[in-house]
Amino acid sequence: MEKTFLMVKPDGVQRNLIGDIVSRFEAKGFKLAGAKLMTISTELAEKHYAEHKERPFFGELVEFITSGPVFAMAWEGENVIATAREMMGKTNPTEALPGTIRGDYGMTVGKNIIHGSDSAESAERELALFFKAEELIDYMKQD
Ligand code: CMP
Repeated sequence: MEKTFLMVKPDGVQRNLIGDIVSRFEAKGFKLAGAKLMTISTELAEKHYAEHKERPFFGELVEFITSGPVFAMAWEGENVIATAREMMGKTNPTEALPGTIRGDYGMTVGKNIIHGSDSAESAERELALFFKAEELIDYMKQD
């Protein structure tokens, strides 16, 4: 079954949005396969955002994501990668529609509440960066 990596960013954790965000994905029908509240090291942040290394905002991005605790999650379900992106809304919250997470709660592109993998390759890479295989539940093996 398809899995994706989602992460409530420091602004979302600080604003007590973990519960609301988890509820949305549970209500949709996805299964939480792993989760941890953690503070990201600079090294992990640089690996996670490696594709943005040349962007002018890279330093800001790493500084923000390491600035406070994040809630890292693995979610499982049919077409979860693309559906989670739809539920998150556009990267820039000013363009995200009401009803999406960023549309409802976000204000700026830097502090946009949540991150979600944008492809199967990213999901695999990001899940491996944040979780050991034994930390993820395989629902297909459960009753
Ligand atoms: P995310 O999905 O975590 O992936 C990369 C992040 O870069 C993105 O969300 C935004 O928060 C951030 N980002 C994109 N564009 C800008 C920008 N112009 N300035 C600051 N951050 C940005």
